[in-house]
Amino acid sequence: MSVEYIERVYNSYSNVYDFLFGKVFQSGRELGPELLDLFADARLLEVGVGTGLSLPLLPRNIHITGVDLSEGMLEKARQRAASLHLKNVKLLKRDATQLEFADHSFDRVLAAYFISVVPDPVRVVLEMKRVCKPGGVIVFLNHFQSEHPVMGTLDKLWSPLCYRIGFRTDLNLRKLMDATGLKVDTIEPIGMFGHWKAVRCINP
Ligand SMILES: C[S@@+](CC[C@H](N)C(=O)[O-])C[C@H]1O[C@@H](n2cnc3c(N)ncnc32)[C@H](O)[C@@H]1O
Repeated sequence: MSVEYIERVYNSYSNVYDFLFGKVFQSGRELGPELLDLFADARLLEVGVGTGLSLPLLPRNIHITGVDLSEGMLEKARQRAASLHLKNVKLLKRDATQLEFADHSFDRVLAAYFISVVPDPVRVVLEMKRVCKPGGVIVFLNHFQSEHPVMGTLDKLWSPLCYRIGFRTDLNLRKLMDATGLKVDTIEPIGMFGHWKAVRCINP
């Protein structure tokens, strides 16, 4: 599946995204700021910011840059930031596989319900690491392939189908960490049945 396909899928979701995926993932989004360990004037990058559902949950004394591939999703995020009078938020159209920021530009990086959406998650995580300062915090809120043999097989089986509608279910956290040189600092279940995880990593 190509980046262009994903862009089209999310452009078509933009008017209904909050209705479909707002409440159902909110408990994870609420955990994000806590795990990020934010401090005054911290520079936070949110990759795949979407319609900006995390923005109201983040403190106003930090500098937030939100990037997304989909102009439709970004437009909703811009409307949200404007209606909340958020002066500390910059929203940019960017492909996370090529972030166009200098190395070590950010103290913190958040990927909320995002990393299983991209066609090349390893490349995207390497970009997230590159733009994050050494010792900075990277947080993923995501579904990862279950370690349970039956559930893990099911995750693999229905993944191609799910990917047609914008996300995969067979992203393996252990393999992703190994391939990118990241290590899990903390991990906790979020949302339904514990299949979704909040994963906190410290950038080496
Ligand atoms: C499932 S949504 C998550 C949105 C938001 N983070 C949330 O919590 O609801 C995934 C978002 O990632 C964006 N996306 C997918 N691939 C991308 C890429 N390569 N670069 C930047 N954004 C991308 C999509 O356009 C979409 O807005």
